[in-house]
Amino acid sequence: MRIDVLTLFPEMFSGPFEDSIIKRAVDKGIVDLNFVNFRDYSLDKHKKVDDYPFGGGAGMVLKVEPIYDAVEDLKKENKGPVLLMSPKGKPFTQKMARELAQEAGLIFLCGHYEGVDERVKELAVDEEVSIGDYVLTGGEIPAMVIMDAVIRLLPGAISDFSDVEESFENGLLEYPQYTRPREFKGLVVPEVLLNGDHEKIRLWRLKESLKKTLSVRKDLLQNRNYSEEELRILEEILSEGGK
Ligand code: ADE
Repeated sequence: MRIDVLTLFPEMFSGPFEDSIIKRAVDKGIVDLNFVNFRDYSLDKHKKVDDYPFGGGAGMVLKVEPIYDAVEDLKKENKGPVLLMSPKGKPFTQKMARELAQEAGLIFLCGHYEGVDERVKELAVDEEVSIGDYVLTGGEIPAMVIMDAVIRLLPGAISDFSDVEESFENGLLEYPQYTRPREFKGLVVPEVLLNGDHEKIRLWRLKESLKKTLSVRKDLLQNRNYSEEELRILEEILSEGGK
């Protein structure tokens, strides 16, 4: 996959992708990362990329021309969707990460200041995406979040990847995990995990997933298709006083 990032702060990306899984994916050629400063596309002699908002108000607005020219230039080599990072966008989810991981390329556009000229969205953007209901100082960290979530899904990025049992992959939060020691400060590993009965372990994990999701993310349980087994376990949890 080829990923291009349009940003006024390309240096911000130097840390997060130079370690661990993402670095390995880059080294293995699974992903090709390219950071472009769209200030380089400003035709202004002072390399200005923002201006006062028409109609007045606080803050500055990113101008349409340099961003449009930068995107057009990148599109010659990267045919993937252009994603504008913005708190006004569609909420990013694991489902979206899976869809984006199918693309041959992605172009991220990181806004800053008060926002971008609306015409950027009409002329150069395929999707406006938000990473959550809060406002950050710019789109760089959201782009890093989405890139991380997508790159780890690319074939070969994680050697023993098991996506069926991850949080969100089956619409539920993941069950608790334990490793040695069996006891620490009086807290013991649940007995069922120690006896090697895979069916019992599977049922325990499913119940714990449902309990966890019910306690912190009831919203995830709303529009979900349940198996009969899940419904039976859910009833069991509720009859035990689970909320
Ligand atoms: N830019 C500022 N806040 C953002 C958010 N929550 N998601 C995506 N881009 C943003």
